[in-house]
Amino acid sequence: MIHYKTEPEIELMRQSALLVSSTLAEIAGMLKPGIDTISVDKRIGEYIRDNGAIPSFLNYKGYRFNSCISVNDVVVHGFPNEKELKEGDIVTIDIGVIKNQYHGDHAYTFAIGNPGAEVMQLINVTKAALYKGIEKAVSGNRIGDIAFAIQEHTEKKNGYGVVRELVGHGIGRSLHEEPNVPNYGKKGSGPKLKEGLVLAIEPMINMGTREVYTEDDGWTVRTKDGKPSVHFEHDVCVRKNKADILSDYGIIEKAEGANPHLFTA
Ligand code: MF3
Ligand code: CO
Repeated sequence: MIHYKTEPEIELMRQSALLVSSTLAEIAGMLKPGIDTISVDKRIGEYIRDNGAIPSFLNYKGYRFNSCISVNDVVVHGFPNEKELKEGDIVTIDIGVIKNQYHGDHAYTFAIGNPGAEVMQLINVTKAALYKGIEKAVSGNRIGDIAFAIQEHTEKKNGYGVVRELVGHGIGRSLHEEPNVPNYGKKGSGPKLKEGLVLAIEPMINMGTREVYTEDDGWTVRTKDGKPSVHFEHDVCVRKNKADILSDYGIIEKAEGANPHLFTA
């Protein structure tokens, strides 16, 4: 069943989404070569709790961390660990919160130092594809219109691999609600979009082939060819004429630009 949100619910969801954005901005200020990702994860947990919310990934289906931190060929669901980030790594930080009973869930990929032009291109194209998908999140369209726009920009135009096994989702009082939001598909297919539907749209795009596998830990998803993968995610409310992006990359990009250790487009 699809849950359409009322205006007051949408405003609460905006608060949850923006708390994830400000957490990502806080983290953008501390990323640098030599930092280990478990200390990043600890800061994420503190920041969320200091702001009156709960990290929603912790204990989700037995997950043991506040966030997912996915480095280089890890596509999603990387465990924070003791390993230090190094110059040229790319790192996706995916964070979820519950505040006032509503979930926020979004992600951003950062470059630690310069990963090279090819990888920067993958980052830029994936972020641009997310916005191309978001443009289609207006009432009257269908899920397939979002999916098609993302696939066109990444796979068709740039020859990247679009991960099939993991998809975006509705979000609200639950982290994952109906409908699924794939990053590949046909125009005009799938459930119809109606005002008040809130979606987590999240392209996961591989530099090489689309194939992935899950490690024996049951969570860590990696590319089969070992090439890097990028993931961007926004929480978006379907509206009549223009999609309403509840999360905010502006504050993250500002913090990213102010950190000399991070490479930006
Ligand atoms: N952000 C992921 C998603 O959209 C969820 C992470 S799984 C968890 O589904 F276990 F870390 F919560
Ligand atoms: Co998500």
